[in-house]
Amino acid sequence: MSRTSDVEPPSRLRNDTFLRALRREPVPRTPVWLMRQAGRYLPEYNATRARAGSFMALAQSPDLATEVTLQPLARFPLDAAILFSDILTVPDAMGLGLSFAEGEGPRFARTVRDDASASALEAPDMAKLRYVFDAVASIRRALAGRVPLIGFSGSPFTLACYMIEGRGSDDFATVRRMAAARPDLLARIVEVNARAVAAYLREQAVAGADALMIFDTWGGMLSTAAFERFSLATMRSVIEALKRDPAARSVPIVVFTKGGDAWLERLASIGADAVGLDWTADLAAARARVGERVALQGNLDPLVLTTDPDTVAREAEAVVAAAGPAPGFVFNLGHGIVPSTPPEHVGVLVETVHRVSADAGRGRKHPSGA
Ligand code: CP3
Repeated sequence: MSRTSDVEPPSRLRNDTFLRALRREPVPRTPVWLMRQAGRYLPEYNATRARAGSFMALAQSPDLATEVTLQPLARFPLDAAILFSDILTVPDAMGLGLSFAEGEGPRFARTVRDDASASALEAPDMAKLRYVFDAVASIRRALAGRVPLIGFSGSPFTLACYMIEGRGSDDFATVRRMAAARPDLLARIVEVNARAVAAYLREQAVAGADALMIFDTWGGMLSTAAFERFSLATMRSVIEALKRDPAARSVPIVVFTKGGDAWLERLASIGADAVGLDWTADLAAARARVGERVALQGNLDPLVLTTDPDTVAREAEAVVAAAGPAPGFVFNLGHGIVPSTPPEHVGVLVETVHRVSADAGRGRKHPSGA
């Protein structure tokens, strides 16, 4: 099976600034998209979710997933769409029984935290995740080349956090204890997850995703040694598998470790095209640290969007300024949009990023003069 884009001209996208920025090419204005851009801050999302009955019903319907993916793009001139789904679809397909209780976050019916459950764990049959790949194909058709589509997965370690704990947690104490006391068990779990994540992202690429992002939401809570072993190394093996695979190798990859700023150089060296930064990172310093090795994505504090339009504009401009003139920057938040965000503030943000980066556009040239 070949990727759809193999038989299409590279210019099939009317707006490819996001992909160009990931390739560190010059762009006329900074591309912007936002983590959780489709979500509860949008009344139309809440209406579709109510119609679906539950978050999982929404995510499992390619038609409804397409509808909510496009909702933020109907309001704002965003430069990329992101697949509407969740990182926890993969452990659900492993048989752990995912549910989202109203207002409570994710729950698994079964956990993986002893020898028996860890040795029974297997990478799922990708047929169980067909609904995700069908959603990717459906969204790509509906976008009709307007902007690129981002596919995604949780990192092997972040998925393990939910599989071990069985739910979200403030400190993931069971996971951190396992990293110290039973590293063999945690290693086994993340190794299975790495194979699952590589296969899952590959199928999203085959279905038409133009870029792929790995969300390592909880890697930042580990010690440096544990981060390297359980999170960084497993993300590297996922990226290596994708870059070896003719069906996926041309699709740029973004890695995002929340709280990973201290390990930026390491994150920039695992084969990803771009590294996402949370809002605690010094963006200008990050650029100096990685040079042109990778593109950077980030990093406005999502709570800024809950302030007022003038503050949103001023803070967005500061992030664009901190990113500097070098090519290879994608504007984003430092983590997902919070539900209390007024949608108008997102409009102000996107407009500001486009305007101030276009004004500075003459500086945003490639050093080669291209
Ligand atoms: O960014 C997007 O617009 C795409 C959709 C997307 C969702 N989840 C939809 C969602 C993406 C990329 C995710 C990733 C995800 N899911 C992560 C990694 C990124 C991150 O935020 O750190 C994680 C850790 C999860 C797990 C998860 N899913 C949690 C902890 C929760 C509950 C907390 C919350 O914010 O509600 C979810 C549910 C979820 N995933 C919602 C959405 C829109 C809200 C569910 C609802 O509608 O009730």
